[in-house]
This record gives sequence, C-alpha cells and structure tokens, in this order.
Amino acid sequence: MGFVLGPPLWLNGRMIKEWNRAVLCGEPWQRAANSAPRIGVFDSGVGGLTVLRALCRCLPQAAWFYVADSAHAPYGERSDAYVLDRSMRLTRYLVEEARCIGVVVACNTATAVAVAALRARWPSVPMVGVEPGVKPAVAQSRAQRIGVMATPATLRHPRFQALVTTYAATATVVAVPCPGLAWAIEQGHEQAPAVGVLLDRFCAELRAHQVDAVVLGCTHYAFVLDQIRARVGPDVVMIDTADAVARHAAQLLGGHGVMDGPHLEPPLVQLFSTGERTALGRMAASWLGQSVPVCTLGI
Ligand code: DGL
Repeated sequence: MGFVLGPPLWLNGRMIKEWNRAVLCGEPWQRAANSAPRIGVFDSGVGGLTVLRALCRCLPQAAWFYVADSAHAPYGERSDAYVLDRSMRLTRYLVEEARCIGVVVACNTATAVAVAALRARWPSVPMVGVEPGVKPAVAQSRAQRIGVMATPATLRHPRFQALVTTYAATATVVAVPCPGLAWAIEQGHEQAPAVGVLLDRFCAELRAHQVDAVVLGCTHYAFVLDQIRARVGPDVVMIDTADAVARHAAQLLGGHGVMDGPHLEPPLVQLFSTGERTALGRMAASWLGQSVPVCTLGI
C-alpha cells in the first residue's frame, strides 16, 4: 500500500498510481512515515517552510507532510471565501487522506480566515495557527511603536484587530499591507529586483513612522528578513513567530503522544505542491538543509 491514499497525485504531468507512490518517495521514507506520527502543514506556497524548519527542530519524532498551495497563491490577495475553501480542502486531504494526527496552518492569512472553521469541522484534531507577533513586539519595543508587515487579507481581518486591542492597546501600531510581496518571494528568487522594489516601498513607510520593532506577519517574509533589517536599520527588533509556533505545537501535540517515538535524523519531510514545484524544492533544500522530493497534488 502507498503511504498516502486519496486524490490523484501527479508527478511531471503523469498521475501517480497507488502502487508506485512508495517508489516515488522511497521505501525507507515510507516505512518511517508509516510508523512515525504524521503531522500536516500547509501554506499558500513556500512561506510555511520557515515554520516547518522550526517544527522539525522541536518535534524530530514526526513525519511531516507539507502542502504548498502554489496553484492558488497568493492567499493574501484573495477573498476570504476563497481562502476558506482552499484551507478546508487542504486540511481535509491532510486529515482524512494522509491521516495526519495534527495540522499546522503555517500561514497567517489562512489562520485569520479559516482556523476557527477548521477547528469546528475537525474538533478532535489538534490545529496550530500562526498569527502576527504583536504581543512579543510590544514587549520588546522601547518606543512602543511597532510596525506589522502582512498581507492585505490578514490585516483587514477582525482577528488582527482583536490582537491589537488585546496586546497593543497602549502602543502605536503601524500596519503595512504588503500586496505583491509574498507572490514575488514565491517565485523563488529572494534577491530579485522585484522583491527589492517592493521592500524599498514598504520599509520606507516603516521608517517614516519610526517604529523600533517590526512584525513579520506573513510566513513568506522570513525569507527576506535580512533585506528588511538592512532597510529599517540594525536597531529595529525583528519579530518572527516561527520558533514560538513550533514550541506551542510541540506542547499541544506532545499531549497526543507525538514525542514518544525515536528522533528522526534527518527530519522526515514530504513536500507536495498544487502548482509549480521548482521553487519549493530549491527553497526547501536551502532552508531545511536536505533535498526533498516534491510531488504534485491534484486538489
Ligand atoms: N504565507 C502566507 C501568510 O503567512 C500567505 C502569503 C500569500 O499567499 O499571500 O500570510
């Protein structure tokens, strides 16, 4: 039996039949993935890899199923209904087909729009979301002036307003929607001029407001953290929540027996993309430090 059951899986334009899925991913991988607890992770594309790296470090006992919804990115410039529909489909695949025992929504946009609905639909499956780190930013900002870079969909959502009201009521919060940035990073060339032009514009806005802490409110932005830091200045604190999310996931999933098995080295990761695979494979290799095959997933 293949290690994944479910909807058609495509590789290089050919549908992969059940019997050779194991060949595709390698027998040792299949054997390990069959015994290790499986955890699903999804994002609109490559951004969630920045969370996956932290997850692998905190939960080395798990088999990771990462889905990049690249055919439907960028989520941050879609309607809420669209992002909700995609999030439901991907989670259904991870839980009901790939038999993951927990899901990490490694996307601020999908978390804002869909995590409540996902928890309601699969109440027994632990779900971890990712939200802009407003609370740690306020804790670390001396001037109590923080900037938040995120997608337009994340920033317009009431969940973001609630975060600000709860944790930053007395601080000045400069929310900078960054349309186009996740998509530019998604192309797989973080140093591309198109990325630089967008960063120039968004970082100028942050500098104009003299913030001393900047929240990376989209998982894609961690790929360009150094470029942002170079533009806003070395004294500005950069807040990325990947490690905190991974620690929370370890706590939550630890209660479900995930930490009982042996440590797997290197981490056991299988990548899926609903669209383009090249950038995902390349960025995963440099970010995770191992080359991982990418399968195309037809959902
Ligand atoms: N990486 C995602 C996030 O954290 C979404 C990027 C996008 O697809 O717009 O919001």
